[in-house]
Amino acid sequence: MGSFEVALDDDQLWGPGVTNEAAKRAAAAQMAARLRPGDVVGVGSGTTSHLTVVALAERARAEGFSWTAVPTSLEVALTCGTLGVAVGSLATLRPDWSFDGADEVDPEANLLKGRGGALLREKLVMAASPERYVVVDRSKLVERLGSRFPVPLEVVPEAVRLVRDQLAQLGVTEVALRRAEGKDGPLITERGNLLLDARLPEVTARSEAELKAIPGVVESGLFMGFQPRVVVAG
Ligand code: A5P
Repeated sequence: MGSFEVALDDDQLWGPGVTNEAAKRAAAAQMAARLRPGDVVGVGSGTTSHLTVVALAERARAEGFSWTAVPTSLEVALTCGTLGVAVGSLATLRPDWSFDGADEVDPEANLLKGRGGALLREKLVMAASPERYVVVDRSKLVERLGSRFPVPLEVVPEAVRLVRDQLAQLGVTEVALRRAEGKDGPLITERGNLLLDARLPEVTARSEAELKAIPGVVESGLFMGFQPRVVVAG
């Protein structure tokens, strides 16, 4: 099977804006040192993960070995294609280890994720990986989850009003439907769902299960108890 000859460059996927780029690159280099020939690696989404997969690919190319990525989003799968990294599916492969970014990390290494809308596949890959790394710059470290960002919820489209009403019963009234950029109306996820960003009065140990129990909620951006190793850049 042939591969596409036209590469998609980084700017087409990301635009020019990577915040705290120097620190993220330093952490990416740290992750590249973990890569072993033949590894199957769960590859996260977001700008930090993008820089990290580039660092892994560069090291493998320089040392002449191959590895396989299990991507958590279409954008990172496209990046792998551009970099010449083999891509596999969670349907047939189990990652040896995985890395991802996060929007918030609390002192127990619980995470809030989903700014980029890839939370569903990100959680699947994290759950499937025996060894997990979260790569963040210091701005992501918080005392309490939800202190900076709302909690994203991936929701089946026809359930969007039902979910909003059930969130209100849990005391969550600040809920926003995430809008698309470059398209009118709501953002549609890779699985054809919508995203609601819910500002919880307080994120507790029960919040992830409570949100997931609402009919129509496919997944939430709360990643509790995965105990990833946190690599802090800068
Ligand atoms: C993608 O959906 C997100 O979960 C990202 O992993 C998270 O937003 C971190 O992104 P950055 O590395 O771009 O800050």
